[in-house]
Amino acid sequence: MEKHTADVKSSKTFFARLSPEETSLIKSYSKEKKYLPGDVIVREKTLTDTFCIIKKGSVEVTKKYMDSEDMVLAVMGDGDFFGEMALLDQGTRSATVKALTSTTIYEISRKSFELLLKKQPDLAYTILRELSTRLREAGTLLVAHLERKNRQLTQAYIDTVQVLVNALEARDTYTSGHTARVTVIAKEIARKMGMAPEDLYTLEMGALLHDVGKIGIPDSVLGKPGPLEKSEFQIIAGHPGMGGQILKNIEYLENSLPSVMSHHERFDGKGYPEGLAGKSIPLAGRIIAVADSFDAMISSRPYREKIDTMEAVKELRKCSGTQFDSDIVETFIKIIESGGLEFLKEALPEQGVDNKNR
Ligand SMILES: [Fe+2]
Repeated sequence: MEKHTADVKSSKTFFARLSPEETSLIKSYSKEKKYLPGDVIVREKTLTDTFCIIKKGSVEVTKKYMDSEDMVLAVMGDGDFFGEMALLDQGTRSATVKALTSTTIYEISRKSFELLLKKQPDLAYTILRELSTRLREAGTLLVAHLERKNRQLTQAYIDTVQVLVNALEARDTYTSGHTARVTVIAKEIARKMGMAPEDLYTLEMGALLHDVGKIGIPDSVLGKPGPLEKSEFQIIAGHPGMGGQILKNIEYLENSLPSVMSHHERFDGKGYPEGLAGKSIPLAGRIIAVADSFDAMISSRPYREKIDTMEAVKELRKCSGTQFDSDIVETFIKIIESGGLEFLKEALPEQGVDNKNR
């Protein structure tokens, strides 16, 4: 069984904050119990009503995550406490506590605690304050764990998509690495434009998958050297729509669909497949269009030689406001003017991007 250790090792001890009188008072309301290493003191999802303070020994607190993994919430020692929820409600236990060494525990039942509440309200209030701090810590820990899991899941999605893209690019050596470069360029532009992190993720997925619809295009058309016949161009022009068809039922890619479907639209409305114009073209689609065209220009294709960065920039400028959104072109030119293609080289060191000529 997989086990994940959370970064919390409890540092507070319950008795450390109490006076000797308070400590002995609490002890008088509790029962002393001994456990051997490996003994389960509390089992997750069972009903018990005891709050426990460790007199001596150490315990491990674990919680099942998605019914399979055991996540270690804490390792506790002398003076520490657990089971605080039992004093506050009658639900089942939210975690399992196991003795790691020979351990002696003071157990306080809910009934005893209620008695303490009546007879020693000040002390009971002190205990409740301790418990509230602990509950807040546990909540923070769980949120951090979920955030970490979410990041891992997001990366797994990106990796899966990357595998699909690699398979697609393996058909055509000319486009090898194109998708990765388009993705890095598009993200760099979007970041510079101040795009929010969640939109950046959507853009990244869209950029990775922008040409996925080419999967249905025959090799004879896709890799044809020289100009295309009208019928062949129509086949190529179908790839944004085909991409949309392929992806439309995948929930986590839903938001990236508009960018996949619009990356060949033109700012002046003369693009395909819809002939959308201006800002009615999704922003991510307009950004990918610039990144896609730029990388195509600086890469060799069966039908033409590559051109260098500055020539490609000139070309972008020429088409700014007609083919491309001029704000996006300006942003990208600023990026190049301040550091060339260094960002691309850094993001994809394995591609050996040449800052002068690529
Ligand atoms: Fe495309």
